[in-house]
Amino acid sequence: MSLSIQQHISLQPYNSLALPAYAEYFCSLDGEEDLLAALAYARAHQLQVTALGGGSNLVLAGDIAGLVIHLNTKGYSYCNGAEADSVDVTFAAGENWHQAVLTTLEQGWYGMENLSLIPGNIGAAPIQNIGAYGVELEDIFVSLRAVEIASGKLCSFTKADCQFAYRDSLFKNAARDQYIILDVTLRLSTKPQVNTRYPALQQAIADAQISEPLTPEKVSELVCQIRRQKLPDPTITPNAGSFFKNPLVESAAAEQLLERYPQMPNFPQPDKQTKIPAAWLIDQCGFKGITRGPVGVHKHQALVLVNNLREGGANGEQLLALAEELRDGVWKRFSIRLEIEPRVYGLVDQSKDRSGI
Ligand code: EPU
Repeated sequence: MSLSIQQHISLQPYNSLALPAYAEYFCSLDGEEDLLAALAYARAHQLQVTALGGGSNLVLAGDIAGLVIHLNTKGYSYCNGAEADSVDVTFAAGENWHQAVLTTLEQGWYGMENLSLIPGNIGAAPIQNIGAYGVELEDIFVSLRAVEIASGKLCSFTKADCQFAYRDSLFKNAARDQYIILDVTLRLSTKPQVNTRYPALQQAIADAQISEPLTPEKVSELVCQIRRQKLPDPTITPNAGSFFKNPLVESAAAEQLLERYPQMPNFPQPDKQTKIPAAWLIDQCGFKGITRGPVGVHKHQALVLVNNLREGGANGEQLLALAEELRDGVWKRFSIRLEIEPRVYGLVDQSKDRSGI
């Protein structure tokens, strides 16, 4: 065991928006024993603990006081799943999500392919219940193990415990910043099956004029292709994926909007609510492609805010100011409040809630 805690470390390489911010104390860990030792150190020195995963769903609004822990644990194990033709695969939190998808495809385990190329690590996936192209993490989730920051106690969470909802879970609400996720167990199928219901995926299949039966590998390839077309590569153009959640509005309110905007895409939900794409709302307000100094709205996807390094790079306050401008514009035109999707850290006044809830 070699616990090395450093002081005043730049977090710029650890967040996909490449925002400049410092951790008061920082350690990067690749083992659970080290993690428990780091938490004991934080308790002994009364340091607030912040866990960093792949940093792809994070806005650093300023420096982070206390100890920032970067968990870099690797590896996976598996056993037969409880259902026929299934396998339960447990990935360490520090594994890269997309690498894990590729590993499962190589092994002949299916179910993650629609979630190909999502940036970030395994440990972050349950926090916002990642989802794309018709599949959400909760569809394949079995359980996770985590350590409670305050006590160092190891705990397990079932799917029900996690209270998953659209881009939401217990870990964004009642349990926010209270646990560090150690590993995640997913139930995958050993029989190839594909889920191609999502409209953009159907379109890609039609465009590709595929004659042979679709395989999960091919679905993964198509999803990668769509994502590469629409979403900027965070290693080239720093971003955090969708910056806002797609808002849910009362279906009656959606009907009224549809009278004014018959072309508005809308997705009725089972609970008399309708999901409206935030990208469409932002786009309608004319914000797509705008720049404000070093920050801007991506030119191909209005839901993605970018940090333009060629313009000198932005800080978190500039990015959040742009987010406010978009929220304000959408509110004035549609009376819909957008909610920021990534987690915001490092605000001077932590009580100031910038998520828009
Ligand atoms: N649209 C616009 N303007 C744009 C972009 C999109 O009007 O600039 C319209 C499209 O025409 C479409 C609708 O908005 O009718 C939805 O667009 P898209 O299918 O691209 O999906 P999204 O709602 O923008 C969501 C997720 C993505 C996920 C895709 C595919 C959220 C917040 N975002 O995006 O997830 O990859 O669906 O499933 O739910 C992420 O969470 O970081 C993320 C990238």
